[in-house]
Amino acid sequence: MRMPRALSRTAYSRYGRELLKEVLDGPIPNHIAMIMDGNRRYAAEILDSDRNEGHRKGEEKIEEMLEWCLELKIKYVTVYAFSTENFKRDKDEVEFIMTLSERALHRMADNKKIHENKVRIRVFGDHSTLPDSVKEAIRYADERTSSYSDFNFNVAMAYGSRQEIISAVKDIARKVANHELEVDDISEETFSEHLYTSDIPDPDLVLRTSGEVRISNFLLWQLAYSELYFTDVYWPGFRYIDFLRAIRSYQQRIRRYGE
Ligand code: IPE
Ligand code: IPE
Ligand code: MG
Repeated sequence: MRMPRALSRTAYSRYGRELLKEVLDGPIPNHIAMIMDGNRRYAAEILDSDRNEGHRKGEEKIEEMLEWCLELKIKYVTVYAFSTENFKRDKDEVEFIMTLSERALHRMADNKKIHENKVRIRVFGDHSTLPDSVKEAIRYADERTSSYSDFNFNVAMAYGSRQEIISAVKDIARKVANHELEVDDISEETFSEHLYTSDIPDPDLVLRTSGEVRISNFLLWQLAYSELYFTDVYWPGFRYIDFLRAIRSYQQRIRRYGE
């Protein structure tokens, strides 16, 4: 039997509170990374609307999710906002997402909660491929938050992990050619230092929404020992309890690192 709406809301919030209590008793991930997928399917199947509405709702969800992460004191949050391969989409869709991202970055850079919690905002990826207005928004968010370090909100934008790796290889090769680096001195640490994420610890938990069980060119090097969590909900429909369930699942894992 379907529960009356008001009752089901109460039950959910009680369940949410119980989950929160449970989660607060366990280890909280230091870094959570999210592949926010399913905006267009959410628009078509749930909203019966156009894909832009899905992207708009997806963007709102990022700001909501960041508050959940701050509540749990998760120090690093990374979101996959736009991949190198997403440039292959319709021109109209790419333009819409770029405008949305530009506005979102400005809004977040001015958001009271970002400043109260001292959240540093960083956007990484191949910025040369982004429109000037987005580059300007990235600069603005960076400038307004660069002195903060309590929390870190990272946005992977025009990002592809293979491209990032190639770019690191080229930088290292140049240093070797210029005798700034010896081939035998190339280690995991040196390599990591040449990635966009050089001063960001590897993710503890990588979460993907929308039911797809793949990585789609996200942080391939960095997630070698991350716990992976996949959920069927589309990103704009990702709820607080889905978030808490993901953290609880992480807490139930035994991380062995090969030992
Ligand atoms: C994620 O949702 C947002 C981006 C990749 C920019 P999608 O736009 O991929 O939506 P689906 O996965 O096709 O539903
Ligand atoms: C991954 O989603 C990229 C982002 C969430 C930004 P995609 O929708 O682009 O990935 P595929 O095409 O399903 O692999
Ligand atoms: Mg997708």
